[in-house]
Amino acid sequence: MNILLLGSGGREHAIAWKIAQSTRCTHLYIAPGNAGTAAEGENVALKTDDFAAVGQFVLEHHVEMVVVGPEAPLVAGIADYFAQEPSLKNVMVVGPSRAGAMLEGSKDYAKAFMQRHNIPTARYQTFTAATLKEGQVFLDTLQAPYVLKADGLAAGKGVLIENDLATAKAHLAEMLGGKFGDASASVVIEEYLSGIELSVFVLTDGQHYLLLPSAKDYKRIGEEDTGLNTGGMGSISPVPFADKEFMKKVEERIVKPTVRGLRDEKIDYHGFIFVGLMNCGGEPYVIEYNVRMGDPETESVFPRIKSDVVELFENTARGTLDRCSLKVDPRTAACVMMVAGGYPEAYEKGKVISIGEEQEDVIVFHCGTKHGADGELLTNGGRVICATALAETLPEALMKSYNRVHTITWDGKYYRRDIGQDLLKLLI
Ligand code: AMP
Ligand code: GLY
Repeated sequence: MNILLLGSGGREHAIAWKIAQSTRCTHLYIAPGNAGTAAEGENVALKTDDFAAVGQFVLEHHVEMVVVGPEAPLVAGIADYFAQEPSLKNVMVVGPSRAGAMLEGSKDYAKAFMQRHNIPTARYQTFTAATLKEGQVFLDTLQAPYVLKADGLAAGKGVLIENDLATAKAHLAEMLGGKFGDASASVVIEEYLSGIELSVFVLTDGQHYLLLPSAKDYKRIGEEDTGLNTGGMGSISPVPFADKEFMKKVEERIVKPTVRGLRDEKIDYHGFIFVGLMNCGGEPYVIEYNVRMGDPETESVFPRIKSDVVELFENTARGTLDRCSLKVDPRTAACVMMVAGGYPEAYEKGKVISIGEEQEDVIVFHCGTKHGADGELLTNGGRVICATALAETLPEALMKSYNRVHTITWDGKYYRRDIGQDLLKLLI
């Protein structure tokens, strides 16, 4: 079949790389893609928020499956658009309906969903400009640090964690006063959870589910988790502390009630659920849901999936995921992200990348890259390129990944040298 994948980052390169390996895929289109996805299929200049144009392309190119990488088109209702258009309703869409995407699109909605279904999460309340005073009184009842979250999508910047009560109250007033525009018209205040974070990924057809490999990402720009938040500076899969016992708790207390909740509430959901978790002394709590794969978690999770993903996606879209099982490579994957100097603040684009030689068991995924007029490889974003290595052990995987990273150069490149080090300490 012909498949259209929407998105342009490292996540999409990893998904495209895996789709391209399937014998079920005749032609893969990626919109808009990057220089890396161009090697897996054909990049097409479509705007992913222009559903009519996407639909038109699908009809003209006999596309049978659309795989949605990022959250924005899902929150905007791309799956509903396809379901409602008579000429498109038979096209398989991997990605939830708008109602399902609310799990990521609104923190208040996600918290209320968890509460309705008894899913463990931090205690919370939601406030608006009209209830600012009540919000400040609620902060008085909590202990530092204080966690304030803009309700809507705020490009990963909408969460503030503050130690000082008076400053937290001032932040609340600023957020409700429009600091993040409409996204912070409502603000969720919640209890601080202390523990180690990890990400668990689920593929569901709305009735059945498969638990994909777990991963840990590294969010801050600086080593030892310092400095500004980024999209993610690296990832490791599996997570050593997510052992059988812990994962059983995750499955019973979180994954099953989430899928059951979606089904009982008749929310159409055919796609990924990314559960951001805190491991608090061996007990899992949900920090957030995302309705897509993580980036750069996909770059360490997808290389470990041995099953044919197109077959998984077909059964996801058709509601027959119970027919599938998942084959996973037991090795460890380590992904190190390389970014443009200055990122996540101002940075330059258009630097010429020297890509180095291929190495065994290492995959290079492109994030923000493009080809220049003469075919040269250029930087085209903050997160530029990453290397994922597979090996029997975490130290070996890290060594291979860093060896590959050292061969990739451009003016101003930066990467963290400590990806996975916290996990190595836990293993000792
Ligand atoms: P989110 O955008 O919801 O993923 O939040 C961004 C980051 O803030 C998370 O990845 C956590 O590191 C942190 N965070 C969010 N909620 C909490 C919480 N209740 N307790 C501790 N840390 C949190
Ligand atoms: N790496 C975190 C995310 O994709 O949201």
